Amino acid sequence: MAKYRIAWLPGDGVGNDVMEAIKIVLDALKLDAEYLHGDIGWEFWCKEGNALPDRTIELMKKTDCALFGAITSKPKEEAQEELDPKLRGKGYDYFSPIVRLRQEFNLHTNLRPCKAYPGNPLNFKEGIDLVIFRENTEGMYGGVEFHPIPEEVFNVLDKHHPKMKKFKKFGLENMAMSTRLMSRQMCANIVRQGFEYAKKYNRKSVTVVDKPNVLRETGGLMLRTARQVAREYPGIPFYDTNIDAQCMWLLKNPFDYDVMVAENMFGDILSDLAAQLVGGLGFASAGNIGDNYAVFEPTHGSAPKYAGMYKVNPIATFLAAKLMLDWLGELDMANRLENAIAAVIQEGKVRTYDMGGKNTTLEMAEAVAAKL
Ligand SMILES: NC(=O)c1ccc[n+]([C@@H]2O[C@H](COP(=O)([O-])OP(=O)(O)OC[C@H]3O[C@@H](n4cnc5c(N)ncnc54)[C@H](O)[C@@H]3O)[C@@H](O)[C@H]2O)c1
Repeated sequence: MAKYRIAWLPGDGVGNDVMEAIKIVLDALKLDAEYLHGDIGWEFWCKEGNALPDRTIELMKKTDCALFGAITSKPKEEAQEELDPKLRGKGYDYFSPIVRLRQEFNLHTNLRPCKAYPGNPLNFKEGIDLVIFRENTEGMYGGVEFHPIPEEVFNVLDKHHPKMKKFKKFGLENMAMSTRLMSRQMCANIVRQGFEYAKKYNRKSVTVVDKPNVLRETGGLMLRTARQVAREYPGIPFYDTNIDAQCMWLLKNPFDYDVMVAENMFGDILSDLAAQLVGGLGFASAGNIGDNYAVFEPTHGSAPKYAGMYKVNPIATFLAAKLMLDWLGELDMANRLENAIAAVIQEGKVRTYDMGGKNTTLEMAEAVAAKL
C-alpha cells in the first residue's frame, strides 16, 4: 500500500493540462502515493446539478489530502441555462465547489506564498517574498446571502438598526444582501497561524489587514483580537493596516511586509495583488488547510480559451504540490521540488507563453523533472 492517498481533482479546462504536468513531476520525485480521481466541475453541474458530487466528498474522506486543478463557474442565470433541462426548476442552485470544499472540510486557513524567484521576467521587483494567511470559511465569502431579502430578516434588521430605514423604499425584491459574519475564534485562529508561521520560519513581521475604521464591528473584532494574539508573540513586530491603503503600500514598498493576515474577501484581493508582484497567475499557488485535511491548488481558473492546448504555465501547480509536500512532512522532496523550479526559472531556457517563451505546459514539467 502506498504511503499517501491523494485525491486527484483536475476539474475543468486547463485544470487538466496542469494536473497532467504535475503528475510527471511527482512521478519523477517518486512520491509514494496513490492518486484517486474525483469528479468535480462544470460538467457535473450541467449533468447532475452538483459541481461537487457527494461521491467526490466521500472519496476525499478516504484520502490524506487533495490536489485540485481549476473549475469553471458562471453567474446564476447562465448556470441555470446550462443545467440539463430535466433538472431545471427542481431547486438546483450552483454553488462553487472550491468554496464548498473549504466549508465541508473546515479548511479554515488559506496559505498563499508569493515569492519572486530570481530570473522570472515577470517579477515586479526582485526579492519580494510575502506569505498571506487568508481566513477561508467566514467573512464576506461565508455564503450567508439573500435575494430577495426575506421579510422577516429585513424586519429584524430594521428593528435593531436605524440605518435600515433608508432601504425600505426599494422593496424586498430589489435588494440583495451579503453578510460579513466573523467570529472571534476564527479571527484569533488565522492571526495565530500567521504568527506561528513567522516564528517557525523566522519571518520579520506580521501585518493584519482589514478596515476597522469603517467596518467598525467586523473589522474592529479582527483588530482587537489580533492585538490580543500579538501579545503572545512579543518578539515578532506586529502591524495593522487598512486594506485600501495596504494595496497602495504593497506596490510602493513590497519589502516592508512579510507575513500578512486578512479576512476571507480582503485576503482574496490582497493575495491576487501580491501574486501579480511575483509573476501572476502562472505562479500563484494556495493551500486550503484545516486541522485534519488540506486541498492544494493553483489559484488560476480554467482559462477556457487555452483548455487542452498545453499552453499555460504549470509552475503555480508545481508550487501547490510543494505546499502539499511540506504539509505531508516530506520536507526533503518539497525542497528538491522548489529548488528544481527555481533552477528552471533562473536558467530561462524553458518558458511558457506568459513568461515570453514558446514552451508547452508539459515541456515545463519535463524541464523541472530533469532538475530534481
Ligand atoms: N480556483 C478556480 O478554480 C478558479 C479561479 C478563478 C476563476 N475560475 C473560473 O475559471 C473560469 C475562467 O475565468 P477567468 O478567465 O476569469 O480566469 P482564469 O484564471 O481562468 O484565466 C484568466 C487568464 O489568465 C491567464 N492564465 C490563467 N492561468 C494561467 C496559467 N497557469 N499560466 C498562464 N496564464 C494563465 C490566461 O490568459 C487566462 O485567459 C471562470 O469560469 C471562472 O469562474 C476558477
